[in-house]
Amino acid sequence: MSRSELLSRSSGVAGLLAAITERVDQELLDAAPALRVVAEYGVGYDNIDVAACTARGVVVCNTPGVLAETTADLTWALILGAARHIGAGVEFVKQGQWQAWNPNTLLGHDVHHRTLGVVGLGAIGWEVARRALGFDMRVLYVSKRPHPERSGVTFVDLPTLLRESDFVTIHVALTPETRGMFSAPQFALMKRSAYLINVARGAVVDQQALYEACRSGQIAGAALDVTDPEPMLASDPLLGLPNVTVVPHIGSSTVATRVRMGTLASENIAAVLAGSPPPTPVNPQVFDSLRA
Ligand code: 8YV
Repeated sequence: MSRSELLSRSSGVAGLLAAITERVDQELLDAAPALRVVAEYGVGYDNIDVAACTARGVVVCNTPGVLAETTADLTWALILGAARHIGAGVEFVKQGQWQAWNPNTLLGHDVHHRTLGVVGLGAIGWEVARRALGFDMRVLYVSKRPHPERSGVTFVDLPTLLRESDFVTIHVALTPETRGMFSAPQFALMKRSAYLINVARGAVVDQQALYEACRSGQIAGAALDVTDPEPMLASDPLLGLPNVTVVPHIGSSTVATRVRMGTLASENIAAVLAGSPPPTPVNPQVFDSLRA
C-alpha cells in the first residue's frame, strides 16, 4: 500500500499490522484517531515512533523470539557464503569459467576454530553464537550487559571484539545509539582478513565507509541482508565489489517463520481489541493504564 493510500484508509482503523515498510509516526497517528494497537510484523520496530504511540494510548507490539533461529540460520548462510565464496562460485560455473580443477580456485578461509564476534547478544545473537560453538569457534560478544548464564561465550568490549574476530556479525536494534556505530574507525580496528555480516538494520553501518573498507582491503569483505536504504539500488557501488554479497532482507523469510510472525502479530491485535493483555507488547504500560 502506498503511503497516501495508507493514510487515507486509516481513519476508522483500530488495529494496524505494520511491516518494516510502514512508517508509523505522528502523521499516521493523526490520520488514524481510532487506532488502539499497532502490531509490528517483525522483531525490530525502528519504523514505529513508540513514544508518539504511547502518548496517544496506542499499544505497540512486535514478534520477538519466533524468528530468532531462522534469522540465525540465514546469518550462518552469509558467514559460510562469505568465507567460502559461494556467490562467486555460482557465477564462476554459470559463466563457463570452470574449465579444469585447480587447487587455487576460489580459495576461501576456514570458519571452524576461528573467532566470531557477536555484536548484540539478544535472542538472534545468541542463536548465532550457539551455532558457532558447533563449529568449534571462539565466540566473543558485546552486549548492553554480560550474560553469565550463557556458557561458551566471552563478554568483551567492542575494540577487543573488532581486533580479535575473524567474522563480526551485527545483531543490535537500530536506535540513536547504534545508528552508524560501524564506520571507518571500527573498520580500522578489524583484521584485514575479517568479514562483516549484517542482518540487523542497514543504518547501523555507515555504508560509504563500508564501501571504502571493502574496496581498499581494510577488511576482507561483507555480507549484508540489510542495507540503507532498502531496497538497495542495483547501481549501488557496493554491488560492484567482488568481496561484498547482498541479499534482500530475507533473514526471517521461511514459510514456517512467516506463519509464526503473522500469527503472533494477529494475536497481538486480537488481544488488545478484546481487552486482553497482548502476548508481546513493546509498551505494556499503555495496556496496563487502559485497564486501570
Ligand atoms: C522482517 C526483520 O522480515 O523482524 C525484523 O526485525 O527485520 C524481519 O524479520 C521485517 O521486519 C518485516 O517487517
